[in-house]
Amino acid sequence: MGRKSATSLAGRWALVTGSSRGIGREIAQGLAEFDCNVVLHARKRENARRTLELLSEYDVETTVVAGDLGTAAGVRAVVEGVTRHPGHVDILYNNAAVQNTWQSVWEIERRTWQEAFDVNVHALVALTNAFAPGMLSKGYGRIINVSSGIRDLPSLAPYSVSKAAVDKYTQDLAAGLSGTNVLVSTLDPGWLRTDMGGPNADHDVTTVVPGALVPALLPDFGPNGKRFFAQEYEWSE
Ligand SMILES: NC(=O)c1ccc[n+]([C@@H]2O[C@H](COP(=O)([O-])OP(=O)(O)OC[C@H]3O[C@@H](n4cnc5c(N)ncnc54)[C@H](OP(=O)(O)O)[C@@H]3O)[C@@H](O)[C@H]2O)c1
Repeated sequence: MGRKSATSLAGRWALVTGSSRGIGREIAQGLAEFDCNVVLHARKRENARRTLELLSEYDVETTVVAGDLGTAAGVRAVVEGVTRHPGHVDILYNNAAVQNTWQSVWEIERRTWQEAFDVNVHALVALTNAFAPGMLSKGYGRIINVSSGIRDLPSLAPYSVSKAAVDKYTQDLAAGLSGTNVLVSTLDPGWLRTDMGGPNADHDVTTVVPGALVPALLPDFGPNGKRFFAQEYEWSE
């Protein structure tokens, strides 16, 4: 993918959840490279400071919203923050997630299941419900749900089960949005060295881009309900 494709996101606003570090930070920078204004998000505003500094290198507008997506109040704070400024989002990048530590599957307590589903599924659905109507009324929207290759591995439930739920939800959402220019996708980022992925992961975090940008750059009425694999794409100079 060329660094400047024919498609510019100038004038668009993206909300990237969990953009204080890791994959979300790379996605936020990648979107800014395509002239997209970015709403950064973290549990606390100060957590997003470094990403905010990095985005100051680009000629785009930025703002920060904060909220713990494991709570209804946190989700509300994020929606209200966006409503105050910029008022809407054109691209919703549902990236934030939590991963539990490994345990025998029969020993996992309810609260561990609850946290994984609250952050990884319920918050993602709530943010989609909050912002999809605005996208539909404008006739443009891109919703990208970050999934994982772990759905194919028999380990790390409830995290893996929550990602399977994200995949199924995305299929249902794609069916519901069929024929509109609000396109929903899943992204499998690959196994990346982040706080979540750990130091032994296959890939440097920077390799999530440009692939992670492909579903954000889809042409009008392009593919809907498609799964993108970030590691299949490289920059061409
Ligand atoms: N890394 C991998 O190998 C890998 C592989 C497959 C899929 N993924 C997926 O890629 C996405 C990003 O992963 P990552 O590796 O970049 O994770 P990460 O390094 O752990 O970063 C997590 C991000 O999510 C935010 N976050 C965590 N808990 C939150 C909560 N309760 N409420 C709101 N925000 C919260 C964090 O914000 P704070 O800084 O405020 O904590 C941070 O910005 C996730 O959906 C993950 O499942 C990752």
